[in-house]
Amino acid sequence: MENKEEIVREYSNKEMTVVWKPHVCIHAKYCWQDLPEVFNPNNRPWVNVHGASSERIAQQVKKCPSGALSYFYNEAQKETNGKEIHETCEVDVQAIPGGPLLINGNISFTDENSNLTRKSGKTAFCRCRQSNNLPYCDGSHLEIKTGN
Ligand code: FES
Repeated sequence: MENKEEIVREYSNKEMTVVWKPHVCIHAKYCWQDLPEVFNPNNRPWVNVHGASSERIAQQVKKCPSGALSYFYNEAQKETNGKEIHETCEVDVQAIPGGPLLINGNISFTDENSNLTRKSGKTAFCRCRQSNNLPYCDGSHLEIKTGN
């Protein structure tokens, strides 16, 4: 018998893959109440990724409050040379005037030595090259601005 904590199921159509981690699910029911054509706990498999457009499925998966459901676009995964990305790939990127590149979302960052780091929430990448914690901003850009 499978250990429930190790179960990860993937359901793919041509464009996307929905990932389900049952041990994370808090049974909020948003998925199958809002989009029963795709998420139906009475069916096996319970996720039918052909039941709606990929865009609509992605929209619904984003509402999952526990993170038990996530998705990735298959093309995006190919671009990572097959490394798995099971987080939502959408991020918000903002250039702070005179400061860092602020990224809000789940990202996978590979440095020049091929070290992979996964970040979630906000990540600030230094653009001024003065940080003592490259590639991340440490606030040193503020000293450049004020000349201190
Ligand atoms: S942008 Fe903040 S230290 Fe470089």
